[in-house]
Amino acid sequence: MPKVTFHHDGQTTEAEANDGETLLQIALDNNVPMEHACGGNGFCTTCKCSVQRGMEHLGQRNEKEENMGVTDDPERLGCQAEVHGDVEVEVLES
Ligand code: FES
Repeated sequence: MPKVTFHHDGQTTEAEANDGETLLQIALDNNVPMEHACGGNGFCTTCKCSVQRGMEHLGQRNEKEENMGVTDDPERLGCQAEVHGDVEVEVLES
């Protein structure tokens, strides 16, 4: 089972995830505050995260992320990045 470590508000939360879940789904299931103004549809950037470890365990960057200008590592949209292995991310202030 993939393990996701979230750094947020000066705290760290470790969460277990199911393969293929998005960072946003995992955050919300584990009471990690991650903004999601567009409802997780890839039309805002409030769910943006900085990936500190495990970028290779996230699914491919998709068209929605590219349309929103989230094209450079280490940034990913939490609602679009699917988890397939252990990752460590910082939840960015929106
Ligand atoms: S929640 Fe809006 S882009 Fe992710």
